[in-house]
Amino acid sequence: MGSCPHAANGASEREASLAKTTQPGKGCIMDVLEALQNRHSVRTYTGEPVSEENLKKVVQAGLLSASGKHLCPWEFIVVRDHAMLEKLAGFRKVGAKMLAGADAAIVVLGDGDKSDVWVEDCSVVMANMHLEADSLGLGSVWVQGRVREASDGRTAEEFARELLGFPEHLHLEAVLALGMPESHPAPAELDALAWAKVHSERF
Ligand SMILES: Cc1cc2nc3c(=O)[nH]c(=O)nc-3n(C[C@H](O)[C@H](O)[C@H](O)COP(=O)(O)O)c2cc1C
Repeated sequence: MGSCPHAANGASEREASLAKTTQPGKGCIMDVLEALQNRHSVRTYTGEPVSEENLKKVVQAGLLSASGKHLCPWEFIVVRDHAMLEKLAGFRKVGAKMLAGADAAIVVLGDGDKSDVWVEDCSVVMANMHLEADSLGLGSVWVQGRVREASDGRTAEEFARELLGFPEHLHLEAVLALGMPESHPAPAELDALAWAKVHSERF
C-alpha cells in the first residue's frame, strides 16, 4: 500500500477500502466503477501543493481521451502561478471563485476547425482528468467556460483568451481547478442510483 496515493495521503478508511491492490511499479489499481462512486467535485483546498508527478498524471489522463475520428482537437494550458489563478477566477461571474484558492488549473480549449464534435471531445477530456485527479487523492472541479459570462461582462472565453493568450480558432471549453482537498464527500451509494432514468428496450 506504500505506493498507493490513497494510503499515502493519509488516510481514511474510505480511501483504504477503495485501494484494491498495488502492483510493482504501477501503483494503486482501482476499479473504474469504484473510482466513479468515490468521485466528487471538491472546491476547497488546503493550500498544500499538488505534486508535479500527480499533475502530470492528470494531464496524461486528458491526453489519453477518446475523440471523434481520433482528431484530438484539444489544447491544454496548465496554470500553476497563483497570481494568474486569482485572475483566472474572474473568468466567470459566478461559479469560479475556487480557482483563487487552487494550486493548479488546466484550461481545456477546443479547435472547432479541426472537429465538429470538439465540445464532446473536450468534455471527455474534462471527465477523465477529474476522475484521475480524484483517484490520486486530489480535489478537483469542472468550471464551465463555454457559453458562460465573465465577471466583467465579456464572455468567459474572451476574458480567458486575453488573460492566457490563446488564438481565435481555439474555443474555451472548461477549466479543471485542482488542489489538495480540505475534505471529500463520502462515496455515492450504488443502491441510491437513479434507475428510474434507465429504460429497457423502449422509453
Ligand atoms: C458540464 C459541467 C459544468 C460544471 N460547471 C461548474 C461550474 O462552473 N462551477 C462549479 O463549481 N461546478 C461546476 N460543475 C460541477 C457540478 O456542479 C457537480 O458535478 C455537481 O454539482 C455534482 O456534484 P459532484 O461532482 O460532487 O457529484 C460542473 C460540472 C459539469 C459536468
